[in-house]
Amino acid sequence: MKRYTVTAALPYTNGPIHIGHLSGVYIPADIYTRYLRLSGKDVVFICGSDEHGVAISIKASNEKTTPKNIIDKYDKMIRQSFESFGISFDNYSRTSREIHYDTASEFFKKLNSNKKFVEMTTNQLFDETANKFLADRFVTGTCPVCSFKDAYGDQCEKCGSSLNATDLINPKSTLSGIKPILKKTKHWFLPLDKYEKFIKNWILDKHKDDWKANVYGQVKSWIEIGLKPRAVTRDLDWGIPVPIKESEGKVLYVWFDAPIGYISSTKEWAAKNKKDWEVYWKDEETELVHFIGKDNIVFHCIIFPSMLQAHGEFVLPKNVPANEFLNLEGEKISTSKNWAVWIHEYLQDFPNKEDVLRYVLTSNMPETKDSDFTWRDFQAKNNNELVAIYGNFVNRVIVLINKYYLGEIPTPSFYTNEDKEILSSVKVIKDNISSAIEKFRFRESNSEMMNIARIGNKYLADSEPWKQIKDNPDRTKTILFISIQIVSALAYLSEPFLPFTSLKLKGILGVEKQLGWKEILNFNIIESGHKINKSSLLFEKIEDNEIINQYKKMNINKK
Ligand code: 2FM
Ligand code: ZN
Repeated sequence: MKRYTVTAALPYTNGPIHIGHLSGVYIPADIYTRYLRLSGKDVVFICGSDEHGVAISIKASNEKTTPKNIIDKYDKMIRQSFESFGISFDNYSRTSREIHYDTASEFFKKLNSNKKFVEMTTNQLFDETANKFLADRFVTGTCPVCSFKDAYGDQCEKCGSSLNATDLINPKSTLSGIKPILKKTKHWFLPLDKYEKFIKNWILDKHKDDWKANVYGQVKSWIEIGLKPRAVTRDLDWGIPVPIKESEGKVLYVWFDAPIGYISSTKEWAAKNKKDWEVYWKDEETELVHFIGKDNIVFHCIIFPSMLQAHGEFVLPKNVPANEFLNLEGEKISTSKNWAVWIHEYLQDFPNKEDVLRYVLTSNMPETKDSDFTWRDFQAKNNNELVAIYGNFVNRVIVLINKYYLGEIPTPSFYTNEDKEILSSVKVIKDNISSAIEKFRFRESNSEMMNIARIGNKYLADSEPWKQIKDNPDRTKTILFISIQIVSALAYLSEPFLPFTSLKLKGILGVEKQLGWKEILNFNIIESGHKINKSSLLFEKIEDNEIINQYKKMNINKK
């Protein structure tokens, strides 16, 4: 492939982000993109704020303010959280920007003039008290597929089904609580039934082996149920106005405009960087990868690809590695119940520990099934892995080289079989990391990365340079030369996972050069005679009281 366009789901700006967002979407996308960049690939990493939709109107009315105030407030907060965590987007845009209005409107107009929509006047749910049509989150009811009681008008969050509001059983307005009536209104529908065969040929027949089973399985079951036409416009006052005549009071459905946000964000990036955005979306040699959570699968595997296909000029995603959900202390994360670890609060409670959370969330990522975050596990992974394995190995090597050789890398002599084996096993681990990342197995790649420190520790323990220094100075030099090569490999290979630690460690090692993934370990990363700096701690122990504080905050009584 010539280039990669990597997207991460655009978060709604109706609230701050929490650990579920990071572990489900943004950390895996960031690891993948950092790895591609290190591998010398041409890659653009795209995201932005999703600022339309009923969720934002509801938040604004709850807070007695305007949607504009809401989106400005949360766009700022979310942006800061991503930046603090080193999520290395090439561009983070907003769907409220002009470039997005233009792009989404053009897209709609092209589909409309090519007769890709069906215009229909149908009965829709209407709240007589609020004098509003009810769509999406303005209406809840029982899911016709799984009987979940609180399904939304466009989607059931329990089973993931994509719904039309009129499909709900016992619908209820979230505005007034009343039972809505039916009222006629005109809308533009994307006839998804006509795209069933295309989705089947493209995903079900071709991607059984390279797409994740959870994603493939969901698509398969929707195709089996059968696709129905879906309205891409709404009677709402917040959104992008339908860009054609006789459509007053109507806006684009948020799930029509949001994925086009990936395209407008790419355009914005290209304009700033003198690039041609079109090749990143239209050239067959571009690999498009969407990182999302499982509730977004239908939109990225069925609706958006059908829109792209209807448009005709765009490539389709090569993969959609959706994750399942992360729970918190055994319960589903819930914004309304304030059951979440909010990223902006974590940053305050644990300053300079961004990599710790990145590490814990990656080692526990909900890749194939829902997983659970607990504060005790967070503490254990920090203390027993980051501090005791990674930090300890690095510190021992740096301290010994400073102590024995005043920080100057010694010259090795004869390599024993064990020395050769250790170096070749680090090379094997490096290849394991690559192949796991390329298969979207981030837990595995992260634990392979930690294995480098594990074998480094074992090498030190087995070879005991502190016992050799007196009688066997040449052997000691070789051991520490090899050890520092392993530390350096760790510094470079952990960059996708622990970017802040990697940077700090490179600083301790005094290495400025940017090595590509291929170059790492192809030669001695640090030469004899090079001077390293003094050690400084990469990770600190997390004490019980810090964990108890978090439990108190959540009203959990744990010792
Ligand atoms: O589920 C969500 O949070 C949506 N805002 C994701 C949008 S992804 C994309 F299509 F924009
Ligand atoms: Zn359902």
